[in-house]
Amino acid sequence: MASLVSLTECPGDLSLLYHGLLLPKETHSAESLKFAQEFRLKDSDVVVVTYPKSGTIWMQEILPLVLNGGDLTPLHTIPNWDRVPWLEEKRLALVVDQLPNPRAMVTHFPYQLMPPSFLASKAKVIYVMRNPKDVIVSSYYFHQMARFLDDPGTFDEFVDKFLEGKVLFGKWTDHVKSWKHSELGDRIMYITYEEMVQDLPATLRRMSDFLERDLSEDVIQKIAQHCSFKAMKDNQMSNFKLVPRELMDSEISPFLRKGVVGDWKNHFTPEQLQRFKSVLQKELQNESFTLPWSLE
Ligand code: A3P
Repeated sequence: MASLVSLTECPGDLSLLYHGLLLPKETHSAESLKFAQEFRLKDSDVVVVTYPKSGTIWMQEILPLVLNGGDLTPLHTIPNWDRVPWLEEKRLALVVDQLPNPRAMVTHFPYQLMPPSFLASKAKVIYVMRNPKDVIVSSYYFHQMARFLDDPGTFDEFVDKFLEGKVLFGKWTDHVKSWKHSELGDRIMYITYEEMVQDLPATLRRMSDFLERDLSEDVIQKIAQHCSFKAMKDNQMSNFKLVPRELMDSEISPFLRKGVVGDWKNHFTPEQLQRFKSVLQKELQNESFTLPWSLE
Protein backbone atom coordinates (compact mmCIF):
# COMPACT_ATOMS: atom_id res chain seq x y z
CA MET A 1 0.00 0.00 0.00
CA ALA A 2 1.03 3.60 -0.58
CA SER A 3 3.24 5.76 1.59
CA LEU A 4 3.92 9.47 1.31
CA VAL A 5 7.54 8.81 0.36
CA SER A 6 6.76 9.42 -3.23
CA LEU A 7 5.37 12.93 -2.95
CA THR A 8 7.13 15.74 -4.81
CA GLU A 9 6.20 19.37 -4.26
CA CYS A 10 7.10 21.45 -7.29
CA PRO A 11 7.26 25.11 -6.23
CA GLY A 12 5.63 27.34 -8.82
CA ASP A 13 3.90 24.40 -10.50
CA LEU A 14 0.19 23.82 -10.30
CA SER A 15 0.59 20.13 -9.52
CA LEU A 16 2.02 17.72 -6.99
CA LEU A 17 3.61 14.49 -8.11
CA TYR A 18 2.31 11.64 -5.96
CA HIS A 19 3.64 8.18 -6.79
CA GLY A 20 4.23 9.46 -10.31
CA LEU A 21 0.69 10.87 -10.68
CA LEU A 22 -0.06 14.54 -11.28
CA LEU A 23 -2.55 15.95 -8.75
CA PRO A 24 -3.61 19.61 -8.64
CA LYS A 25 -2.32 21.57 -5.63
CA GLU A 26 -5.54 23.52 -5.50
CA THR A 27 -7.41 20.48 -4.20
CA HIS A 28 -4.64 18.20 -2.89
CA SER A 29 -1.83 18.64 -0.36
CA ALA A 30 0.66 16.54 1.60
CA GLU A 31 -1.81 16.75 4.51
CA SER A 32 -4.81 15.62 2.46
CA LEU A 33 -2.87 12.66 1.05
CA LYS A 34 -1.70 11.68 4.54
CA PHE A 35 -5.28 12.02 5.77
CA ALA A 36 -6.42 9.72 2.96
CA GLN A 37 -3.75 7.12 3.71
CA GLU A 38 -4.69 7.06 7.40
CA PHE A 39 -8.42 7.25 6.75
CA ARG A 40 -10.42 4.47 8.39
CA LEU A 41 -13.02 3.11 6.03
CA LYS A 42 -16.10 1.50 7.54
CA ASP A 43 -17.72 -1.69 6.26
CA SER A 44 -20.81 0.32 5.36
CA ASP A 45 -18.92 2.90 3.24
CA VAL A 46 -19.51 3.08 -0.50
CA VAL A 47 -16.71 4.42 -2.70
CA VAL A 48 -17.19 5.48 -6.31
CA VAL A 49 -13.95 5.12 -8.24
CA THR A 50 -13.31 6.80 -11.56
CA TYR A 51 -10.53 7.93 -13.82
CA PRO A 52 -11.23 11.70 -14.15
CA LYS A 53 -13.95 12.66 -16.65
CA SER A 54 -15.67 9.29 -16.60
CA GLY A 55 -18.84 10.34 -14.76
CA THR A 56 -17.68 11.14 -11.21
CA ILE A 57 -20.06 14.00 -10.50
CA TRP A 58 -22.94 12.09 -12.04
CA MET A 59 -22.37 9.37 -9.45
CA GLN A 60 -22.04 12.03 -6.73
CA GLU A 61 -25.58 13.00 -7.66
CA ILE A 62 -26.96 9.49 -7.83
CA LEU A 63 -25.36 7.64 -4.94
CA PRO A 64 -26.77 9.60 -1.97
CA LEU A 65 -30.27 9.18 -3.42
CA VAL A 66 -29.83 5.44 -3.87
CA LEU A 67 -28.54 5.17 -0.31
CA ASN A 68 -31.22 7.37 1.28
CA GLY A 69 -34.17 6.00 -0.68
CA GLY A 70 -34.71 9.04 -2.91
CA ASP A 71 -34.67 11.94 -0.41
CA LEU A 72 -33.68 14.95 -2.56
CA THR A 73 -32.66 17.20 0.36
CA PRO A 74 -28.87 16.74 0.05
CA LEU A 75 -29.05 17.53 -3.67
CA HIS A 76 -30.46 20.96 -2.96
CA THR A 77 -28.60 21.87 0.22
CA ILE A 78 -25.01 20.60 -0.10
CA PRO A 79 -22.53 21.21 -2.95
CA ASN A 80 -21.56 17.94 -4.61
CA TRP A 81 -17.91 18.12 -3.47
CA ASP A 82 -19.05 18.08 0.19
CA ARG A 83 -22.04 15.77 -0.35
CA VAL A 84 -19.82 12.96 -1.67
CA PRO A 85 -16.25 14.12 -0.97
CA TRP A 86 -13.07 12.96 -2.67
CA LEU A 87 -11.02 10.66 -0.46
CA GLU A 88 -7.77 12.32 -1.52
CA GLU A 89 -8.84 15.97 -1.46
CA LYS A 90 -8.49 18.67 1.20
CA ARG A 91 -12.25 18.96 1.79
CA LEU A 92 -12.63 15.46 3.24
CA ALA A 93 -11.09 16.35 6.62
CA LEU A 94 -13.48 19.30 6.91
CA VAL A 95 -16.71 17.47 6.12
CA VAL A 96 -16.15 13.86 7.11
CA ASP A 97 -17.91 14.24 10.47
CA GLN A 98 -21.04 15.55 8.76
CA LEU A 99 -21.48 12.66 6.33
CA PRO A 100 -24.62 10.60 6.87
CA ASN A 101 -24.37 6.83 7.26
CA PRO A 102 -23.79 4.90 5.10
CA ARG A 103 -21.07 7.28 3.93
CA ALA A 104 -20.57 7.92 0.22
CA MET A 105 -17.20 9.00 -1.16
CA VAL A 106 -15.46 9.24 -4.50
CA THR A 107 -11.84 8.75 -5.45
CA HIS A 108 -9.60 8.91 -8.49
CA PHE A 109 -6.95 6.78 -6.79
CA PRO A 110 -5.70 3.71 -8.63
CA TYR A 111 -6.18 0.56 -6.56
CA GLN A 112 -2.65 0.44 -5.15
CA LEU A 113 -2.99 3.91 -3.59
CA MET A 114 -6.09 3.04 -1.58
CA PRO A 115 -5.54 3.28 2.20
CA PRO A 116 -4.69 0.09 4.12
CA SER A 117 -8.01 0.25 6.01
CA PHE A 118 -9.87 -0.06 2.69
CA LEU A 119 -8.60 -3.58 2.03
CA ALA A 120 -9.31 -4.67 5.57
CA SER A 121 -12.88 -3.33 5.38
CA LYS A 122 -15.93 -4.58 3.53
CA ALA A 123 -16.56 -1.16 1.95
CA LYS A 124 -18.16 -1.50 -1.48
CA VAL A 125 -16.82 0.01 -4.70
CA ILE A 126 -18.61 1.23 -7.80
CA TYR A 127 -16.10 1.59 -10.61
CA VAL A 128 -17.31 3.77 -13.48
CA MET A 129 -15.53 3.46 -16.83
CA ARG A 130 -15.99 5.58 -19.93
CA ASN A 131 -14.77 5.15 -23.50
CA PRO A 132 -11.25 6.66 -23.33
CA LYS A 133 -11.81 8.51 -26.62
CA ASP A 134 -14.59 10.51 -24.94
CA VAL A 135 -12.61 10.76 -21.68
CA ILE A 136 -9.75 12.54 -23.41
CA VAL A 137 -12.10 15.00 -25.15
CA SER A 138 -13.87 15.80 -21.89
CA SER A 139 -10.51 16.13 -20.14
CA TYR A 140 -9.22 18.46 -22.85
CA TYR A 141 -12.04 20.95 -22.23
CA PHE A 142 -11.73 20.51 -18.47
CA HIS A 143 -8.00 21.37 -18.62
CA GLN A 144 -8.97 24.55 -20.46
CA MET A 145 -11.66 25.73 -18.03
CA ALA A 146 -9.99 24.64 -14.76
CA ARG A 147 -7.46 27.39 -14.12
CA PHE A 148 -5.71 25.23 -11.52
CA LEU A 149 -4.58 22.79 -14.20
CA ASP A 150 -1.84 23.20 -16.78
CA ASP A 151 -2.88 24.52 -20.16
CA PRO A 152 -3.57 21.48 -22.36
CA GLY A 153 -2.11 23.06 -25.54
CA THR A 154 -3.60 21.91 -28.82
CA PHE A 155 -5.70 18.75 -28.96
CA ASP A 156 -2.84 17.09 -30.83
CA GLU A 157 -0.40 17.96 -28.03
CA PHE A 158 -2.94 16.81 -25.47
CA VAL A 159 -3.23 13.39 -27.14
CA ASP A 160 0.49 12.86 -26.47
CA LYS A 161 0.20 14.09 -22.87
CA PHE A 162 -2.75 11.78 -22.25
CA LEU A 163 -0.98 8.77 -23.75
CA GLU A 164 2.14 9.50 -21.69
CA GLY A 165 0.08 9.91 -18.51
CA LYS A 166 1.12 13.56 -18.09
CA VAL A 167 -2.43 14.49 -17.13
CA LEU A 168 -4.53 14.31 -13.97
CA PHE A 169 -4.05 10.93 -12.25
CA GLY A 170 -1.75 9.50 -14.90
CA LYS A 171 -2.46 6.94 -17.59
CA TRP A 172 -6.01 5.79 -18.25
CA THR A 173 -4.83 2.22 -18.98
CA ASP A 174 -2.97 1.97 -15.64
CA HIS A 175 -6.08 3.10 -13.77
CA VAL A 176 -8.39 0.63 -15.46
CA LYS A 177 -5.91 -2.24 -15.12
CA SER A 178 -5.40 -1.60 -11.42
CA TRP A 179 -9.13 -1.81 -10.66
CA LYS A 180 -9.85 -4.67 -13.05
CA HIS A 181 -7.28 -6.74 -11.14
CA SER A 182 -8.43 -5.63 -7.71
CA GLU A 183 -9.62 -9.04 -6.50
CA LEU A 184 -12.40 -7.43 -4.53
CA GLY A 185 -14.85 -10.12 -5.58
CA ASP A 186 -18.45 -9.11 -4.93
CA ARG A 187 -17.35 -5.89 -3.20
CA ILE A 188 -16.89 -4.20 -6.60
CA MET A 189 -19.43 -3.38 -9.29
CA TYR A 190 -18.44 -2.13 -12.76
CA ILE A 191 -20.59 0.40 -14.58
CA THR A 192 -19.98 2.22 -17.85
CA TYR A 193 -20.85 5.85 -18.52
CA GLU A 194 -22.37 4.66 -21.79
CA GLU A 195 -24.86 2.34 -20.10
CA MET A 196 -25.90 5.20 -17.81
CA VAL A 197 -26.56 7.41 -20.83
CA GLN A 198 -28.45 4.64 -22.60
CA ASP A 199 -30.68 3.52 -19.74
CA LEU A 200 -30.16 5.21 -16.37
CA PRO A 201 -33.08 3.44 -14.63
CA ALA A 202 -31.51 0.07 -15.55
CA THR A 203 -28.21 1.16 -13.98
CA LEU A 204 -30.06 2.38 -10.90
CA ARG A 205 -31.75 -1.00 -10.53
CA ARG A 206 -28.34 -2.71 -10.70
CA MET A 207 -26.97 -0.30 -8.09
CA SER A 208 -29.98 -0.83 -5.87
CA ASP A 209 -29.37 -4.61 -5.93
CA PHE A 210 -25.64 -4.23 -5.34
CA LEU A 211 -26.18 -1.92 -2.37
CA GLU A 212 -29.12 -3.99 -1.08
CA ARG A 213 -31.54 -1.08 -1.15
CA ASP A 214 -34.62 -2.62 -2.71
CA LEU A 215 -35.77 0.67 -4.30
CA SER A 216 -39.27 0.83 -5.76
CA GLU A 217 -39.78 1.60 -9.46
CA ASP A 218 -41.22 5.01 -8.50
CA VAL A 219 -38.08 5.92 -6.59
CA ILE A 220 -35.87 4.66 -9.44
CA GLN A 221 -37.73 6.89 -11.91
CA LYS A 222 -37.56 9.87 -9.54
CA ILE A 223 -33.78 9.49 -9.09
CA ALA A 224 -33.27 9.15 -12.85
CA GLN A 225 -35.25 12.32 -13.45
CA HIS A 226 -33.38 14.38 -10.85
CA CYS A 227 -29.99 13.13 -12.03
CA SER A 228 -30.52 13.91 -15.72
CA PHE A 229 -27.94 16.09 -17.47
CA LYS A 230 -30.41 18.97 -17.62
CA ALA A 231 -31.44 18.72 -13.97
CA MET A 232 -27.80 18.71 -12.89
CA LYS A 233 -26.94 21.63 -15.17
CA ASP A 234 -29.73 23.63 -13.54
CA ASN A 235 -28.73 22.67 -9.99
CA GLN A 236 -26.40 25.25 -8.40
CA MET A 237 -25.23 22.60 -5.95
CA SER A 238 -24.04 20.39 -8.78
CA ASN A 239 -23.01 22.55 -11.74
CA PHE A 240 -19.86 24.13 -10.20
CA LYS A 241 -21.20 27.66 -10.74
CA LEU A 242 -20.50 28.25 -7.03
CA VAL A 243 -16.78 27.95 -7.76
CA PRO A 244 -15.13 31.35 -8.44
CA ARG A 245 -14.43 32.03 -12.09
CA GLU A 246 -10.71 32.44 -11.34
CA LEU A 247 -10.68 28.70 -10.60
CA MET A 248 -13.25 27.32 -13.03
CA ASP A 249 -14.35 29.38 -15.98
CA SER A 250 -17.68 28.08 -17.27
CA GLU A 251 -17.52 30.66 -20.06
CA ILE A 252 -14.61 28.73 -21.55
CA SER A 253 -16.38 25.39 -21.09
CA PRO A 254 -19.03 24.38 -18.57
CA PHE A 255 -18.25 21.43 -16.28
CA LEU A 256 -21.46 19.83 -17.48
CA ARG A 257 -20.35 20.26 -21.06
CA LYS A 258 -22.24 17.94 -23.46
CA GLY A 259 -22.99 14.74 -21.58
CA VAL A 260 -23.11 12.57 -24.69
CA VAL A 261 -21.49 9.44 -26.06
CA GLY A 262 -19.24 9.74 -29.11
CA ASP A 263 -18.14 13.40 -29.08
CA TRP A 264 -14.66 12.06 -29.91
CA LYS A 265 -15.82 11.86 -33.54
CA ASN A 266 -15.81 15.66 -33.65
CA HIS A 267 -12.22 15.94 -32.41
CA PHE A 268 -9.88 13.18 -33.60
CA THR A 269 -8.15 13.21 -36.97
CA PRO A 270 -7.60 9.73 -38.50
CA GLU A 271 -3.89 9.99 -37.65
CA GLN A 272 -4.59 10.90 -33.98
CA LEU A 273 -7.05 8.05 -33.73
CA GLN A 274 -4.47 5.61 -35.08
CA ARG A 275 -1.84 6.86 -32.59
CA PHE A 276 -4.33 6.67 -29.71
CA LYS A 277 -5.56 3.23 -30.66
CA SER A 278 -2.14 1.65 -31.18
CA VAL A 279 -0.81 2.84 -27.79
CA LEU A 280 -3.89 1.66 -25.90
CA GLN A 281 -4.03 -1.68 -27.71
CA LYS A 282 -0.36 -2.30 -26.93
CA GLU A 283 -0.82 -1.46 -23.26
CA LEU A 284 -3.83 -3.74 -22.97
CA GLN A 285 -2.73 -6.60 -25.24
CA ASN A 286 -1.92 -9.09 -22.46
CA GLU A 287 -4.93 -8.32 -20.32
CA SER A 288 -7.50 -10.94 -19.42
CA PHE A 289 -10.38 -8.45 -19.69
CA THR A 290 -11.77 -6.84 -22.83
CA LEU A 291 -13.04 -3.31 -23.15
CA PRO A 292 -16.77 -2.80 -23.66
CA TRP A 293 -16.11 -0.43 -26.58
CA SER A 294 -14.24 -0.69 -29.83
CA LEU A 295 -11.17 1.52 -30.12
CA GLU A 296 -11.70 1.80 -33.90
P1 A3P B 1 -18.49 15.87 -21.14
O1 A3P B 1 -17.32 16.79 -20.92
O2 A3P B 1 -18.25 14.88 -22.24
O3 A3P B 1 -19.79 16.58 -21.29
P2 A3P B 1 -16.39 13.80 -14.25
O4 A3P B 1 -17.50 14.10 -13.33
O5 A3P B 1 -15.75 12.45 -14.01
O6 A3P B 1 -15.38 14.90 -14.26
O7 A3P B 1 -16.98 13.66 -15.72
C1 A3P B 1 -17.51 14.78 -16.36
C2 A3P B 1 -18.26 14.33 -17.58
O8 A3P B 1 -19.49 13.70 -17.16
C3 A3P B 1 -18.66 15.49 -18.47
O9 A3P B 1 -18.63 14.97 -19.81
C4 A3P B 1 -20.07 15.77 -17.99
O10 A3P B 1 -20.87 16.49 -18.88
C5 A3P B 1 -20.58 14.33 -17.81
N1 A3P B 1 -21.80 14.27 -16.99
C6 A3P B 1 -21.99 14.71 -15.73
N2 A3P B 1 -23.27 14.53 -15.35
C7 A3P B 1 -23.91 13.95 -16.40
C8 A3P B 1 -25.27 13.51 -16.65
N3 A3P B 1 -26.22 13.68 -15.75
N4 A3P B 1 -25.54 12.97 -17.85
C9 A3P B 1 -24.59 12.80 -18.79
N5 A3P B 1 -23.29 13.20 -18.61
C10 A3P B 1 -22.95 13.77 -17.44
